[in-house]
Amino acid sequence: MNRDAPMAAWPRCDRTVAWSALQGHAEAHGHALDLRQLFTDDPQRAQRLSLQAPEVWADLSRAHWDVATRRHLLDLARECGLEARRDALLRGDIANVTEGRAALHTALRAPKGAGPFSAHIGEQVHAELDRMLAFAEGIRARAGGEQPGDIHDIVHIGIGGSDLGPQMVVAALGAWVHPRLRLHFVSNVDGQDIAALLPRLKAQHTLFVVASKTFTTQETLANARTARQWFTEQGGTDIARHFVGTTTQVTTAAAFGVTTTFGFWDWVGGRFSMWSAIGLPIALALGAEAFRELLAGAHAMDRHFANAPLDANLPMLLGLLDVWQRNFMGYRSRCVAPYSQNLHRLPAYLQQLVMESNGKGVDVDGQPLPYATSDVVWGEPGTNGQHAFFQMLHQGSDVVPVEFILVRQPSYRDAEALSPALRASLAQQHQALLANALAQAQALMCGKTSEQALSEAAATASPEVPCEVIARHRTFPGNRPSLTLLLDRLTPSALGALVALHEHRTFVSGAVWGINSFDQWGVELGKALCQDLLPRLDSGDVSGLDAATAQLITRLR
Ligand code: F6P
Repeated sequence: MNRDAPMAAWPRCDRTVAWSALQGHAEAHGHALDLRQLFTDDPQRAQRLSLQAPEVWADLSRAHWDVATRRHLLDLARECGLEARRDALLRGDIANVTEGRAALHTALRAPKGAGPFSAHIGEQVHAELDRMLAFAEGIRARAGGEQPGDIHDIVHIGIGGSDLGPQMVVAALGAWVHPRLRLHFVSNVDGQDIAALLPRLKAQHTLFVVASKTFTTQETLANARTARQWFTEQGGTDIARHFVGTTTQVTTAAAFGVTTTFGFWDWVGGRFSMWSAIGLPIALALGAEAFRELLAGAHAMDRHFANAPLDANLPMLLGLLDVWQRNFMGYRSRCVAPYSQNLHRLPAYLQQLVMESNGKGVDVDGQPLPYATSDVVWGEPGTNGQHAFFQMLHQGSDVVPVEFILVRQPSYRDAEALSPALRASLAQQHQALLANALAQAQALMCGKTSEQALSEAAATASPEVPCEVIARHRTFPGNRPSLTLLLDRLTPSALGALVALHEHRTFVSGAVWGINSFDQWGVELGKALCQDLLPRLDSGDVSGLDAATAQLITRLR
């Protein structure tokens, strides 16, 4: 592996010519861009700013940018050496400089023999993948059986990157889940999470998967201890059969008592790990074939990221757009709105991916950054979000770009067993779902003028509230940005591509900002303080603590 600091050759983004050009462009035009005008001026805008990547079609025409913005952003990419840095990442150079590691999640989904990383890595990956998938198929073959050891329930214990990916994928691909397996995910150190689940399980038919890259995470070990306690209290004896670990630390797992393990490597970041052994619950739920399809979809996006020219490279364009929206348009957050109930965990997954990766305040050399980095990512599936926070998106004081994710054709479990009438009813619901997404994007962009609002208000005006006042409440400013990602179907392959797209997009904005997108030192302080405070809750010792913490400890005791 190349141990050269990857940043050395490239200027910091705010010291480039393109950055200054973007600043000038934002001041002169950016804040004045009106989407309605842009579409009037360029009837081809929708087509011009849409792009087909593997499995994902993207419409970027409703973002606040124009041809000149894009040109400057592509210049920025060149000046910051984005293509060379992408190539270094994919080759397995040290991308995570503060931990001296590569970030080779792409190797986890590359076919046998593929590069550009070392052949040895590929061999390790495929050996472990084959072993894990064989194990999963073994469990699936006897799922729901009545012999002791036949599995009905799988309890996945992990947190953060060792939870969010598998949980999101299993929910998203519900139609593919083995009909005689129930998947449960326990993450919170709050014992109420696991306590609510255990009474519903039978020890002899339950498989616990303890997932932790480090095998030191407080929450995961606490839940694993409780699970083991419950298992033995229920008369369970065969821990090796009912507890499986997925970790880079197989020796630590064995010392903890989990001896059946599937491994991965320190060059797999936690939030990039669902393609590794951490994806075991995905393989258990969906089977080896679907798991391989998930990997293949991600790999197709990896190839697109590696090979497509900058101006036709979706992860590159999205990452650059993120920089534009954050640093030049000043948008502090983005809303992810999957119009797919199956993707209800995607916003949570993306929160970790984006904010743990790019929520940094210093560059790779440790220099404080004078510009903003990660935005806040949040969201809920449509249409539920419409009845909660869309009011703010349409009429609030902040502009929040919205990312619509649409699935053209839904997938239902046991679809063939549905009656024609039920199928027709569900088809209508899907059309309603799509129409809602289209309407929201349209309303955000087009808005409603005060004249339109006034003519409507005339009908509802009362002597107490004049129609001009009502009209002001009913005016929508419009010109609110959004983008749309469209999948034909939510298949394992499409989901793999969608997730890989977001991984690469996050890397791109992080690379422009010159930060290390692969470490997460910001989570460490709280963990260390917790170790100090935990015994104090028992002892009541508040010496040396700040007054607010001391007061709370006293009240909690
Ligand atoms: O919260 C920080 C973090 O280190 C994440 O980056 C990681 O995904 C999570 O904790 C879980 O860590 P582990 O897999 O080691 O249990």
